[in-house]
Amino acid sequence: MRILSGVQSSGKLHIGNYYGAIRQFVQLQDEAESYYFIANYHSLNEVREPKRALELTRDAAVSYLALGLDPKKAVLFRQSDVREVLELYWLLGVVAPVAHLERAHSYKDKVAQGKSPDFGLFAYPVLMAADILLYSADAVPVGKDQIQHIEFARDWAVKFNVQYVPGYDPADPEGKERGHAPGILKLPSARIQASTQTVPGIDGRKMSKSYGNTIDLFGDEKEIKKRIMSIKTDSTPVEAPKPVPRAESAGGTEQAEGGKGSEVPLYDLLKVMLPESDFRDVDASWRAGGKGYGDYKKKLLEAYHATFGPARQRYAELAGDPAELERILQDGANRAREEATRLMDKVRRAVGIP
Ligand code: ADP
Ligand code: TRP
Repeated sequence: MRILSGVQSSGKLHIGNYYGAIRQFVQLQDEAESYYFIANYHSLNEVREPKRALELTRDAAVSYLALGLDPKKAVLFRQSDVREVLELYWLLGVVAPVAHLERAHSYKDKVAQGKSPDFGLFAYPVLMAADILLYSADAVPVGKDQIQHIEFARDWAVKFNVQYVPGYDPADPEGKERGHAPGILKLPSARIQASTQTVPGIDGRKMSKSYGNTIDLFGDEKEIKKRIMSIKTDSTPVEAPKPVPRAESAGGTEQAEGGKGSEVPLYDLLKVMLPESDFRDVDASWRAGGKGYGDYKKKLLEAYHATFGPARQRYAELAGDPAELERILQDGANRAREEATRLMDKVRRAVGIP
């Protein structure tokens, strides 16, 4: 069983990234062979300033390590250190239908925000599929917003195998039955952490770098406090019971394409961040009334420091040792490249590239 996932280095990491993705990465490194990378090619869609691109890539690596990724257990690398990914990206582009790309949420959302799309944004899912298929990943732990991308990767892997692997039968992708050949590209599945599918931001929309509604993991302490204190609430008086979300799913209500988010972000954030027994007490007093939103925000701030205090300490230490960081990343890149080289040999042979 091989696990693979990536996080874009398009901004500082936030608690949505942690609960939606990185926490699972850390758990999974003990259970399966794990590959984690910093998607720094992807992030160029947003980060066009070279110095900042380099800084954010480093920052993401330091963040991963501070949060508990262990380079002895998992392969940690930069996407751009394995250039084969760009070759596979092209070869997948050859079989990826434009109709799929036109209905990609990542693209449609940005267009809906009024951005005039560049090709890089349109082709984003193809590069992501190359990331996944290059390392023959079985499972891809991600937040819910990424499911569609992984479905595309599966679809295109099937299309590629059907086109280029004689004897491949989509009904038997691993070629278990006699006369069937296994695919060259392995079909991946998304692995979603249900309880924290979507962590809401301070304005109630999905927490996202691009909405400016984040609570950062390693940001300035004063700014964190300010963000938490400005979580959107209504005008329910102190004594009164507080409203709870209607569709009560932890970490936000159902939402289409990262659109609507949570009705009561403070409640949902407490649910995500507090240990279960503490949340039970909070939930009881929330429903009974008698406490103001300010008290609950203080509680959330305490939980933030209790949860991320040690990681913040490690982050500061690691950030002061860039040579060690580079060594870890080079080692990860070497291990990842070995895998990529093996697969690309097969892929090139299959498509007719010398
Ligand atoms: P952002 O939306 O801030 O740009 P990314 O797209 O880089 O974040 O996401 C990195 C990882 O974190 C992905 O697996 C994504 O699904 C997950 N993730 C991001 N925001 C959230 C959120 N608010 N709730 C749950 N998971 C999230
Ligand atoms: N698109 C992902 C995100 O925004 C980042 C990513 C790029 C990724 N390539 C990947 C995630 C491959 C998993 C696997 O979160």
